[in-house]
Amino acid sequence: MNKLQPIYRKDYTLSEYLIHTTELEFDLTETQTIVTSKISFYKNPKSNKKTNILFLDGIDLELISILVDKAKPDYKLVEQGLEINNLADEFILEIKNCIHPEKNTSLYGLYQSNGNFCTQCEAHGFRQITYYLDRPDVLSVFTTHIKADKQKYLVLLSNGNLIKQINGSTTWHDPTPKPCYLFALVVGNFALKEDTYITLSGNEVTLKIYVQAHNINKTQFAMAALKRSFAWEEKRFGLEYDLDIYMIVAVDDFNMGAMENKGLNIFNTTYVLASIDTVTDKDFIDIEAVIGHEYFHNWTGNRVTCRDWFQLSLKEGLTVFRDQEFTSDLHTRSIKRIEDVNTLRTLQFAEDMSSMQHLVRPEHYIEMNNFYTLTVYEKGAEIIRMVHTFLGEVGFQKGMQLYFQRFDGDAVTIDDFIQSMSDANNFDFDQFMYWYSQSGTPEVSIVSDYNHNDKTFKVFIRQHSQCDYFFPLRFALLDDTGTKLESGILTVKDKEQIFIFNNMDVEPTPSWLRGFSAPIKLKSDLTFKQKIFLVRHDSDAFNQWDNAQQLWLSLILIPSSINQDLFFDAIEKVLKNTFLDGSCVSLVQDKSLICEILTLPSEQFLHQQQEIIDVFEVHDKREKVINKIIERFKLLFSKIYSKLNIYQPYELTPEAVGNRALKNICLYYLAISGEFELAFEQFKSANCMNDKMASLKALIVSDNSYKNIALDGFYHEFKNDTQVMDKYFSIQSSASTANVESIKVLMQHKLFSFNTPNRLRSVIGSFSQNYVNFHNQQGYELLTNIIIKLNQSNPQIGAKLTSVYNHWQRFTPKLKALQKQQLEKILAIENLSNNIFEIIQAALK
Ligand code: ARG
Ligand code: ZN
Repeated sequence: MNKLQPIYRKDYTLSEYLIHTTELEFDLTETQTIVTSKISFYKNPKSNKKTNILFLDGIDLELISILVDKAKPDYKLVEQGLEINNLADEFILEIKNCIHPEKNTSLYGLYQSNGNFCTQCEAHGFRQITYYLDRPDVLSVFTTHIKADKQKYLVLLSNGNLIKQINGSTTWHDPTPKPCYLFALVVGNFALKEDTYITLSGNEVTLKIYVQAHNINKTQFAMAALKRSFAWEEKRFGLEYDLDIYMIVAVDDFNMGAMENKGLNIFNTTYVLASIDTVTDKDFIDIEAVIGHEYFHNWTGNRVTCRDWFQLSLKEGLTVFRDQEFTSDLHTRSIKRIEDVNTLRTLQFAEDMSSMQHLVRPEHYIEMNNFYTLTVYEKGAEIIRMVHTFLGEVGFQKGMQLYFQRFDGDAVTIDDFIQSMSDANNFDFDQFMYWYSQSGTPEVSIVSDYNHNDKTFKVFIRQHSQCDYFFPLRFALLDDTGTKLESGILTVKDKEQIFIFNNMDVEPTPSWLRGFSAPIKLKSDLTFKQKIFLVRHDSDAFNQWDNAQQLWLSLILIPSSINQDLFFDAIEKVLKNTFLDGSCVSLVQDKSLICEILTLPSEQFLHQQQEIIDVFEVHDKREKVINKIIERFKLLFSKIYSKLNIYQPYELTPEAVGNRALKNICLYYLAISGEFELAFEQFKSANCMNDKMASLKALIVSDNSYKNIALDGFYHEFKNDTQVMDKYFSIQSSASTANVESIKVLMQHKLFSFNTPNRLRSVIGSFSQNYVNFHNQQGYELLTNIIIKLNQSNPQIGAKLTSVYNHWQRFTPKLKALQKQQLEKILAIENLSNNIFEIIQAALK
């Protein structure tokens, strides 16, 4: 196998052999781990290959012994694996090999975090543990024996049920057949938070959350969130949990967010640990979402898994859609939608414009881990959402039921899923499949025409893509009080389509793409005044926000294109109407919505709108608008701030979250205007991390006498809390005052660590988004040196950071040339990992 050779979706073939049972034994010590496997293979009846050769994946393994049916087989070690010849149709393979988790810094396969052992096998980590058919369509029943020094390690976990425990060893049996990417092993010392959940049909499930002892007081929220996940899954999807035990283990060193291993989820501590004093409102809701996400994988991912890794979005797109719905049902749907679309448009649309543009179902990969992307996850979820919009909740659930009826226990494809949706509802999704076979963001334009004489409202829709997408366009036609004259869903499917609405006595204002019913770039002919009207009167909160965003965008990039005073008058009315005069007390989500409306499009989003990215120009133009906002609204912000800044015990209700959001955005603008005392007062008196962070962010917008006092105070208060320290680092790396020198100082800090992805993300990741301060030769050189270091120690994170350069071709000439040099420099290093190679190759193509 050559690293330059990609794997193609079209080359999929069935495995010649399958596995009945897998019995593993782990003997873990501080200097090595011995893995013994006993695997019963059989010929796949569906495969027509007759080679009688078995290739097993295996990387960085020391083979100790190998037996086939108790005899020495005809085998050879080959690159990245082991080949056994002359095999019977059924046989037992016994292998013993040695691995070194204590030296594994890649956080892939079996490794250590704070002295505890844990695993990450998705996508191809299992082959770094033992020789195996490391592919998701080979499922088997696992039994796992674990031995470790009982003085040192008290917790020994694997998937399924604990069937035996004698001093220093445990045996786990997982009755549900699974692919090896869902295997997990945890050995170490943890504190345990325990609870139970009674399923709808009356089964008692033991819930366990394992964390490092000093974090045990931060597990309450996660446990409650887990129970809410179980309950929601039953209520909304009619799906119950299938084992007697569900475990979550939190580790500090983890490449991604979390992993849905059967019955034994392993989480980045960031997505488990929570307390009012250490996480923000957004963190709480994100933690709940990730806990939900991993739990929901039990059905969409584990019970029904992927046939091959090209189908990753089968489980990820669907599970993200489900976790989005979970959060929407539990919190404020419209705000969740605004945040999700903002992420999609800021990050996924940008990915679509980058060198790593790819299909939701990719056609090829060199390193699968490079495809755990916004496109596969977030755009994948948008596609599922469109299916839901077409079929409605009832139809969608009918489709889900048929999907499980057909495929429970199988490894299937995205086509199998869509076919179930189609068959259950008698709905034709053929043309819809372009969403999976066409990359890039579709562009659509919409023009309307009102005829006073015949009272018709005509709508012309035009698609500007290679193919004609099939998508739902949710809309409403509003009269001048915002009342709906007409609303519904238009089915768009042709290159050009006309829709005619009759009997329209007055000219309506159309509200298009409500709730962002399709992941497209829509250009409409709405006038400036109509947009202003929609900001104030659209009953679709998403479109209120979206129209405000469009107006901000124009004001920032082409200030002459809109009437600033009229726009600001509208913003003022939104602020006053819904709040100060108390006329709108019942709309709890309103303050969160106002906060969203007051938030300018990010620099990253603005870059997308530029032909050539000029980070400095964008930054300056955006700053100008911030100053205009302050000039106009400073007094109002002060009033709102003092009205909202009253002591209230912490609650995570929409009302309370909204209060804090609005209060803190006012504080932010006030700080920019120089009111640092206010922010410092809040810093000292805040009763929750949410407000403390908000004040700290306000204090570091520019140099002032409070900034360092606050940062030092924050450090001393929280220096023993790893999670809060990530905030401490990232806030400094994102600050407008950060520069390469200050980042180097942070990297010398005793709490900085190259081997902990969270810390790298908080320092280097954050700095790479600090556009005006990062984008220069020194910034690039710093990043490149880090990438080169990570190429050895942790190529997955190395590749993530390399992706910063994926947009190089769109930058101004000087920065473009500099970034290209970096890519070439990295490409030239010895032993370049597949991960980084694939990113660079795509970038330089
Ligand atoms: N399946 C996990 C999730 O989304 C993500 C794990 C990805 N890990 C990786 N190394 N690629 O829930
Ligand atoms: Zn997932």
